[in-house]
Amino acid sequence: MEYNMLQEYDKYVQEDFDVWRILYNRQLATLPGKATNDYLEGIKQVNFVADKIPDFSEVNTLLGKHTGWKIHVVPGLIPSKEFFELMRDGNFCATTWLRKMSQLDYLEEPDMFHDVFGHVPLLTNQPLCNFLSDLSKIALKHIDNDLAIELIGRLYWFTVEFGLIQEKEGLRIYGAGILSSSGETDYSLFSDVPERVPYDVATILNTPYVKDKYQVKYFIIDSFEQLYGSVAEIDKLVDIAVKENKVLVY
Ligand SMILES: [Fe+2]
Repeated sequence: MEYNMLQEYDKYVQEDFDVWRILYNRQLATLPGKATNDYLEGIKQVNFVADKIPDFSEVNTLLGKHTGWKIHVVPGLIPSKEFFELMRDGNFCATTWLRKMSQLDYLEEPDMFHDVFGHVPLLTNQPLCNFLSDLSKIALKHIDNDLAIELIGRLYWFTVEFGLIQEKEGLRIYGAGILSSSGETDYSLFSDVPERVPYDVATILNTPYVKDKYQVKYFIIDSFEQLYGSVAEIDKLVDIAVKENKVLVY
């Protein structure tokens, strides 16, 4: 199966535009001072606004000026092999459908607001894109090994989806799962419930994740260069886990 679809922009109806506008305005009202500055700048660079659902062909042209990455339309979750092959080559998989007005705060699988609003602004960031591409290469090296794919999933989850970053001005969000969730935005930064620990590859490899709940642990990077710089360690530790057929406890 080819996973290369079109956005079909004229199929969006008024409810879709309303959902985008409500979610966009709600997040934009809260994210300044909470999201990493690179994300807030990224929103401007890809020209996201409240009154228009992003047109992927326009967004891809704008991304072309920064990293050359592209939004790649998929029907929903796709097999790991295709997902990682696309991402290795700078294609970020996204759906085109938006949640209904009755589901503003609960979703069973990621919709376009998550995939696009949450992820795409940081696709202007070269070290983050390099990280995604290299993580995909490691996944593809072990694509038939379930343990390796689970471990790569943990790395992806605790960084690109739910990562925090320590900036000079304070702790900030860069994970798309948080940036696209109104409840988790404040929870991730200010709640006393979750743990917040420094980014550490070995610890993440030993930390299973739970879906459909706020995180119990957030990992904090110092910079996107640190993330990209951790690729060699990820490669080495995943190799060892595959060889031993288990994650070693460090
Ligand atoms: Fe995501």
